[in-house]
Amino acid sequence: MTLSPAPSAATAAVSAVSTRVPTVRPATSADDAFIEDLQAIAFGPGRFAKTAYRIRERFRIDPSMSLIAEVDGVACGSVWMTPISIGGINGWMLGPLATHPNFRKLGAGKLLAREVTKRALARGDGQFVMLVGDRDYYCPLGWEPTTLGNIEFPGPVDPTRVLLFAEDKSLAATLHGPIAAWQQG
Ligand SMILES: CC(C)(COP(=O)(O)OP(=O)(O)OC[C@H]1O[C@@H](n2cnc3c(N)ncnc32)[C@H](O)[C@@H]1OP(=O)(O)O)[C@@H](O)C(=O)NCCC(=O)NCCS
Repeated sequence: MTLSPAPSAATAAVSAVSTRVPTVRPATSADDAFIEDLQAIAFGPGRFAKTAYRIRERFRIDPSMSLIAEVDGVACGSVWMTPISIGGINGWMLGPLATHPNFRKLGAGKLLAREVTKRALARGDGQFVMLVGDRDYYCPLGWEPTTLGNIEFPGPVDPTRVLLFAEDKSLAATLHGPIAAWQQG
């Protein structure tokens, strides 16, 4: 693993970035090295100690839900989804979400969050997308604060950062229980 930017991102001219429009596509195994480098750049070595990392270790991401953001065909962002259940209700944990520093403030992060959530809920087999993140970033996109302490994590987490997106607007307040494995049919 290297801590330097992914070659594709590093070669992009920063001065030309501000006019570019991000798009998204499904991730493939060819994106694995880019994603690993991006997460190292965005979160540093402390990412392995995070509670969300423990959840992903336990329940595994769904690679079919992973998306890549591109600008002019250059990969610049990534998002993952982990199938989980809380209180007997299936849904997803979103994260990590990251955009390469050379491509920030172009809308890639919000596009990834919106698009992966739209695709997840369109499947019809899960009812929410939960994440741990900044209210200022996610609440304008439709995420809502949850009732403090209702969702139980397998480690420390700031409960004010536990946010939920669901079509059922009562769910953010009522969902409660430990984070468990996705429940099959
Ligand atoms: C957070 C992150 C994904 C945003 O990516 P991005 O592609 O730049 O996001 P967008 O272009 O869609 O949105 C940028 C806007 O959000 C704002 N923003 C970025 N991070 C923010 C945060 N944590 N809280 C509030 N606003 C934030 C930016 O200032 C910018 O505002 P502007 O449009 O008024 O200039 C990116 O900064 C990143 O990878 N950070 C490190 C990893 C991280 O913190 N991930 C999120 C974990 S919850």
